Amino acid sequence: MTRPIVITGFMGCGKSLVARALAQNLNVSFVDLDESITARTGRTPAQLITEDGEWPFRHIETDTLREVLHSGETGVIALGGGAWIVPANRELIDQYHCSSVWLDVPFEVCWSRIETGAEDRPLGRTKAQAAALYERRQPVYQLAKIHISVRGHEDLEELISRIKSLTS
Ligand code: S3P
Repeated sequence: MTRPIVITGFMGCGKSLVARALAQNLNVSFVDLDESITARTGRTPAQLITEDGEWPFRHIETDTLREVLHSGETGVIALGGGAWIVPANRELIDQYHCSSVWLDVPFEVCWSRIETGAEDRPLGRTKAQAAALYERRQPVYQLAKIHISVRGHEDLEELISRIKSLTS
């Protein structure tokens, strides 16, 4: 593999799960950007957003992404759902010659995972709020180089082989 693979998509689309399995399959290292932020600041993205506001969080997110890319050690990176939306992050991803992969999952599938998941997602606490964000972000996710359309019932192996065939 020659370039890092960045996985993006809406909250609940399965970024972390798919990215981790992909990294394992490719035998490369994996970074979950939200986890790196937590390790760096001692607070989760949800805590940062709730306590400080979204934009202070976005600055930390960009700094953390820069650091991860600069380390040159990461094969697959799972972004948080909003990271790809920030132009500075897309520029960084481009600058480091990453393959960007959008996991395009229907809203209802994402929402059922958001609703039942244990994770706090302050930007998607109500269905209406999450749906509006989903609609607003779709055209930006479309800027990713690789589009993986997911219905929500595929097994992980199938998704991994689709991503591999498009990134190799
Ligand atoms: C966010 C998504 C979250 C997390 C933060 C903000 C977003 O990550 O980064 O709550 O703006 O969509 P997940 O996509 O992993 O839930």
